[in-house]
Order: sequence, then C-alpha cells, then structure tokens
Amino acid sequence: MEQLDRYREQLKVCDEKILQGLLERNRVVEEIMACKEKNGMKILQPDQEARQEAWLEEALKGCRHQEEVRAVFDRIHWGSKRIQARKLFSYNIVLIGFMGAGKSTISEYLNTLFAMDVVEMDQLIAQREGMSIADIFEVYGEEYFRNLETALLVELQERENVVISCGGGTPLRECNVREMKRNGRVVLLTASPETILERVKDSHERPLIENHKTVDYIEQLMEKRREKYEAAADVVIHTDGKDALEICEELVSRLRGLDRER
Ligand code: S3P
Repeated sequence: MEQLDRYREQLKVCDEKILQGLLERNRVVEEIMACKEKNGMKILQPDQEARQEAWLEEALKGCRHQEEVRAVFDRIHWGSKRIQARKLFSYNIVLIGFMGAGKSTISEYLNTLFAMDVVEMDQLIAQREGMSIADIFEVYGEEYFRNLETALLVELQERENVVISCGGGTPLRECNVREMKRNGRVVLLTASPETILERVKDSHERPLIENHKTVDYIEQLMEKRREKYEAAADVVIHTDGKDALEICEELVSRLRGLDRER
C-alpha cells in the first residue's frame, strides 16, 4: 500500500504542474491580447491556430493516449478563446439584418473563433414550438411568431457574452431593439438584393419571401426595412464580396472602436 501512496503522490505532483502550466498559459493569453491591442494588430489570427495544431500533431506522434491528450488540448484552446472573448466583449453581440445577410454564418464563425455561445433565435423558437418557422406562420400567424421573438429577447437579457443571431424581422419592433441594447451591441449585416437572392434561393424556410424570390421583391422589402435596421444598428457591416474571416475582423475592430469611444 505504500507503493500506492507513492503513486498518488506522483499524480499530485503531475496535477500541480498541469495546474501551474494552465494558469501561466492563461496569463500569457491575456498578455498576447494586450500586446495585439497595443500594437494595433489583428486580434484574429487563424494561421496561428493552424500552427499550434501542426505542432501538437507532430509532438504526439508515436505517443500513447493521443485521443485523450488531443481532447484536453481542444479544451485548453476552447478556454483561451473564451478568455479572449470575455476580454474583448463584456456584452452580447446581436446580429441583425435581412434574410440571407449572413447572420447565421457569422454567428457560427464567431463561435469557432471565440468559443462564444450562439443563440439562433429562429432555431430556438422552432425547437421550443416543435415546428418549423414556416409552420408557425401558417398555423398561428406572423403576430404570434413576433411575440415569441420579443419574449425570447427579454429572456436573453439574462445572458452575457453570447452571440444572438436574430430573425430578419426582429429589429422591426422598437421594444425588441430596446431589449437588444440593454446588454448588447447591435451589428447590422447588409448585402445587395442580388447577393441575398443567391443565398436564399434554395431554402424554403422563409415564408415572407417563399413565393417572391426575385431581386425586385427583395429590394422593395429591404427598402421598407432599411430605416429601422439602420436606426437599431451600432455598427453596419457590408458583406458583399467579403469572406467570413474578413467580416469578423471588421466586426471586432469596429466594436473595439466603439468601446474606446464610449
Ligand atoms: C424573417 C426572417 C427569418 C425568420 C422569419 C421572418 C423576416 O429569419 O425569422 O421567416 O421577417 O425577415 P432569417 O433572417 O434568419 O431568415
């Protein structure tokens, strides 16, 4: 049994090393953030993540328990992303914009880059109601759906440091915009009607345009909404011709700029 005690002692030493290593690593993550900010560098550097992965791959060659170790490193990297996100944004990021403007794509990308939790309003509403958005419109009508959106936004004010991906019509109600701004910064994503049509043409989940998938119709509906969208926005980002990384870079730097002004 003395042997067992000795092993346990050894394990404790390992745990202490891991703990110290992790705490130090997290401190360095914060230093890196501060250094990037001070020198006006890009916060997002996905190449670096690829380099870290390549290093791990190499370092683990021939080792036992590769899968287990890899899972720990995944979690460590997830933690670093969260630390960065919390340092950057003490608030929620609320994405608004017309159908097909890229709200879901950018939310997903923010989740990959910063490990921020994402609330897809449409998806959550559909899940809770147990039916698709198209069916909710058909069975209960638009007003019912809009009330669900408002109630969900109110509920989401409890959360912090999450990305809220709104439905295209969410900012049309003033009370919704008030809720969004209570604990969040509102980012409007825009795209040309041609781009929107290209992005939505194969989906059948958007009852308001299901039978009107033309550039003219989209343009008219966009125009009707423009004023409200723009009034709600703290930041506007045009997405045409940009990839997700470029859009996220712009989003981060614009939000940081806003924070510095306030
Ligand atoms: C709507 C947009 C949809 C969905 C519903 C109504 C709108 O969301 O909420 O069909 O009024 O613009 P997406 O913008 O995610 O497509």
